[in-house]
Amino acid sequence: MVHFGHANSLRQAKAMGDYLMVGVHSDAEVTEHKGPPVFTEEERYKMVRAIKWVDEVVEAAPYVTTLETLDKYGCDFCVHGDDITMTAEGVDTYHIVKAANRYKECQRTRGVSTTDLVGRMLLMTRTHFKTGKDEYSVGLPPEPSLEHGATAHSPWTGVTQFLPTTRQLIQFSSGRAPKPGDRVVYVAGAFDLFHVGHLDFLEKAAAEGDFLIVGLHTDPIVNRYKGYNYPIMNLHERTLSVLACRYVGEVVIGAPYAVTAELMDHFRVDVVCHGHTPVAEDVDGSDPYLEPKRRGKFKSPVSGNDMTTQKIVERIIEHRMEFMLRNQKKEKKELAAYEAFEKSKQAERADHAGDQ
Ligand code: C5P
Repeated sequence: MVHFGHANSLRQAKAMGDYLMVGVHSDAEVTEHKGPPVFTEEERYKMVRAIKWVDEVVEAAPYVTTLETLDKYGCDFCVHGDDITMTAEGVDTYHIVKAANRYKECQRTRGVSTTDLVGRMLLMTRTHFKTGKDEYSVGLPPEPSLEHGATAHSPWTGVTQFLPTTRQLIQFSSGRAPKPGDRVVYVAGAFDLFHVGHLDFLEKAAAEGDFLIVGLHTDPIVNRYKGYNYPIMNLHERTLSVLACRYVGEVVIGAPYAVTAELMDHFRVDVVCHGHTPVAEDVDGSDPYLEPKRRGKFKSPVSGNDMTTQKIVERIIEHRMEFMLRNQKKEKKELAAYEAFEKSKQAERADHAGDQ
């Protein structure tokens, strides 16, 4: 997954030099060394390219960074977070660049990781499985039952240790304001688990003017219209995710659900956009875009991308099934091998006793 923890490491990496090239591994490489990726390589290349500190993306970069790779792309050194990444064989992926002194470290952002996000989604969807009426379980295989005393519960608690600070906001913010005469575009939404669909939409919305403002709904508002345990990311996390996007000029941290006259006047909004996804009614049953529509300032650009936060959750469940089934198979095989070994030992003992 591409999240604001990655964006924060890319921000630090960019500050260590002048030009940032980001090597992104192919699906085949990720699958071999880490397990199946949630997003395809094409989606990941696009997401990384849209992070505002990234100058260039090297597609299908080798899993172990070699000096040849650095030289090929004219890179002086390689940057990675202060944790160890290993290949499937248990080799440090950066051992070569470390030995050659062409390696620098940045700090990992605490409290956000793919594992943590996956954990939150699994917790959420488990509740849905139990209600038996969730939209995500449709067409999915039944949950495999676990053997040998393993617990069927997700090992994650879903609690995040991420501590948002004003310093982090400043680091992520563009610090820009619209220039006089700039055409200001306003969009609002949940932007939960910031994904390629959001990205394509923001690119289209940004093209409608010169300065893009993204209004983020508060967690209770998102929960009201998305239901279940949404949002998966809280307002602070969603703010950083959106701020990291190169198309975004400013973020309203906790925007009202209805795009009011007050809001439009305050930010001098010229055009309001909402994509092709359905618009939920406000609490009183009204259209939240009534005011911009009344002013003739509403547009609905088509992102051309059908990714949704729900689809990400579906993908996670699919992979969870794959992962659990794979582990079960492995365990079964090992158990069978162990039993066969025990049996042969018993037979050997019986033979031996017969000899005596
Ligand atoms: O659903 P959410 O509130 O996060 O959507 C934010 C904005 O992104 C909305 O305007 C929505 O229509 C747009 N969007 C889109 N294409 C997608 C997903 C979202 O245009 N695939």
